[in-house]
Amino acid sequence: MKIKVSRKASFNAAHRLFRPDWSNEKNDAVFGKCNNPRYHGHNYDLTVSVTGEIDPETGFVMDLKVLKELIKEHVEEALDHKNLNVDVPEFKNLNPTAENIAVVIWDKLRPHIDKKKELEVVLYETPRNFVTYSG
Ligand code: NI
Repeated sequence: MKIKVSRKASFNAAHRLFRPDWSNEKNDAVFGKCNNPRYHGHNYDLTVSVTGEIDPETGFVMDLKVLKELIKEHVEEALDHKNLNVDVPEFKNLNPTAENIAVVIWDKLRPHIDKKKELEVVLYETPRNFVTYSG
C-alpha cells in the first residue's frame, strides 16, 4: 500500500522570460508581460509530495518536519527573494518558466529523498496557473 504525504511552502521571486537569440518583437509576442526587461515578481506556492509505504515503526511515509527543513534549505534559501534570471545559477541559460522552476526544485530535492519513494512538485505561479513535475 502506498500513500502520499505533502508539505506546502511558498517563496517570492522575480523573473523575466525571454530568449536573447530572439527579436524583441518575437519575445513580446511569445512571452507578453513576462518579457518586461525590468523583471516582475510572483508569489509562488509550492506543494511537495512524497509517496511510499508507511514505515510500520513510525507510521510515517516521511517525517514532514524533515521535508519542511529540506524545502527550507534547498528551495526557499535558493529562490526566495531572488531574481531568478540573475541570482540563481540554474537559470543562467534557462528561461525561468513555471515548468523549468518546478524541474529545478525537483532536481534539488530528489537527492535528499529516499530513493524508494516518489517525489512530486506542484508549483503555482498564480492562483490559477500551476505545473506538476514528478520526474
Ligand atoms: Ni511572470
